[in-house]
Amino acid sequence: MEIRCFAPGDEEAVVRLWEDCGLTRPWNDPRKDIARKLGEHPELFLVGTVDGVLMASIMIGYEGHRGWINYLAVAPAFRKQSIGRRLMQEAEQRLTALGCPKLSLMVRSSNAGVVAFYEALGYRQDDVVALGKRLIEDGPAAA
Ligand SMILES: CC(C)(COP(=O)(O)OP(=O)(O)OC[C@H]1O[C@@H](n2cnc3c(N)ncnc32)[C@H](O)[C@@H]1OP(=O)(O)O)[C@@H](O)C(=O)NCCC(=O)NCCS
Repeated sequence: MEIRCFAPGDEEAVVRLWEDCGLTRPWNDPRKDIARKLGEHPELFLVGTVDGVLMASIMIGYEGHRGWINYLAVAPAFRKQSIGRRLMQEAEQRLTALGCPKLSLMVRSSNAGVVAFYEALGYRQDDVVALGKRLIEDGPAAA
């Protein structure tokens, strides 16, 4: 797998990947999410390709206090080959190089099975309650 920065021509393949991986929701417009990311640390939006075919993604963020991960996705046909692990290692290296002291991430409660993946990579559940407030509506409100 080659890891490189997202390029404008990747949008359709990335949206299809996220749909195939169950990461899209009606209230998050993936194209708007991509456009917003291209305005904030676009160099931290990475994709993975095999023989030119886009099959993985990771959106990394840093706001000066914590690093964040969103849209980590490995196409179903490429799973359990340590690709998710490699993408997370890449994120950790890039965030460490920026001086980021800690990486945080959120897992939807409907996707709790993926917690075992993060635990295998050394992540532990923090004693926090995650809260959110929508500021811009992209679609129908979350149920
Ligand atoms: C989560 C995801 C990125 C993992 O990618 P992957 O390439 O299959 O993961 P890896 O092969 O690198 O796995 C790394 C370790 O986690 C374990 N693991 C991976 N998926 C797992 C799962 N669903 N349940 C339990 N353990 C899992 C692997 O066994 C491996 O452990 P090992 O190295 O000790 O053998 C992939 O399943 C995916 O894209 N899922 C759908 C999207 C998603 O849920 N993203 C995360 C949103 S928070």
